[in-house]
Amino acid sequence: MRRIIIIHYKIDRLLPHRGLARMYVCLCNAFTDRQVRAVCPAAGSSAAAVYCALGVRPKCGKCVPTVREILDEVANSDVPAAVPA
Ligand code: FES
Repeated sequence: MRRIIIIHYKIDRLLPHRGLARMYVCLCNAFTDRQVRAVCPAAGSSAAAVYCALGVRPKCGKCVPTVREILDEVANSDVPAAVPA
């Protein structure tokens, strides 16, 4: 399952209309990459703060590396983090 999530994440990064596509980052809690990006400014650089901001807790934990990747991407990007969820 994690492999599928990573593949979707990388496809999303390669799409020319980036920001239009969305993917589920966490299947246990059903939140998307857009939701993660929307709470990044408030959550800072902590994956735990992202889960807290979304009002959920990690269950299986397989999404944590992807959440960290998104946080790193937002931190190293010039584009504003917040996108409509
Ligand atoms: S996929 Fe996020 S806690 Fe299981």
